[in-house]
Amino acid sequence: MAVADLNISTLTADEIVKMEKACRIVADVLNHMKGFVKPGVTTGELDAIVEDFILTRGGEPAFKGYEVDGKVYPSSACISIDEEVVHGMPGQRALKEGQIVTVDVGVRYDGYYGDSAFTYPVGEISTEKQRLLDVTKESLRRGIEQAVDGNRVYDIAKAVQTYVENQGFSVVRELVGHGIGRHLHEEPPVPNFVPGLLHRSRFPNAKLKNGMALAIEPMVNMGLFHVHTASDGWTVYAADGKPSAHFEHTIVIDGTTPKILTAME
Ligand code: MF3
Ligand code: CO
Repeated sequence: MAVADLNISTLTADEIVKMEKACRIVADVLNHMKGFVKPGVTTGELDAIVEDFILTRGGEPAFKGYEVDGKVYPSSACISIDEEVVHGMPGQRALKEGQIVTVDVGVRYDGYYGDSAFTYPVGEISTEKQRLLDVTKESLRRGIEQAVDGNRVYDIAKAVQTYVENQGFSVVRELVGHGIGRHLHEEPPVPNFVPGLLHRSRFPNAKLKNGMALAIEPMVNMGLFHVHTASDGWTVYAADGKPSAHFEHTIVIDGTTPKILTAME
């Protein structure tokens, strides 16, 4: 698709206020989860805490009932442990000391969406896992820094990829960030890598404008970038079995200082 064919919506000031409300619930629930991610807790229990929190705040869990390729996602959060990259399904599994666990949450509120993910340490983790978390978080910060009026999608992609690869880790190719607003997933796709020539049409280098909302979400593997999907049809995991981290924020382009709507601190 040519860049000119893209249908990227921009939000009015009133709409941004609604986005802020949806995103505040997402950020608050991810903050809240810091107190619950501990050895022994099951991913199903964590999902129930996420869902209660969202409903109590008057939001709707955006992932529950969401359809991807004809499959309906059954839970409110995606919870991915260690080598699981994204879309881990909550269930009976209990967390163990030393793991890393990503909680990814989407909320719909008053017709608008927020989407954010955070990777937590479970108790004490290895220095290499801690470095993976630090690098992934910093790559998100560097990507967001490029989300300014007049820049392009590849400026974000390049900032994330360059930093991650210089640190010796790799960025996942199969999944990308996205526009967000009146829908959870909108144009443009926001890759965390600069697409090779053959993939440029799938990931157009759209120009960024004030009022565009993006979910920027680097998924960083400690080993190789290749991933597979598990037999449950959802869980995406690193093919080499090494740990993977994922941080995501919903932002709005606003001149030279992006507004991070899901900022946690
Ligand atoms: N969290 C994913 C994203 O950031 C979407 C999850 S889709 C679901 O785009 F179906 F798994 F919920
Ligand atoms: Co997202």
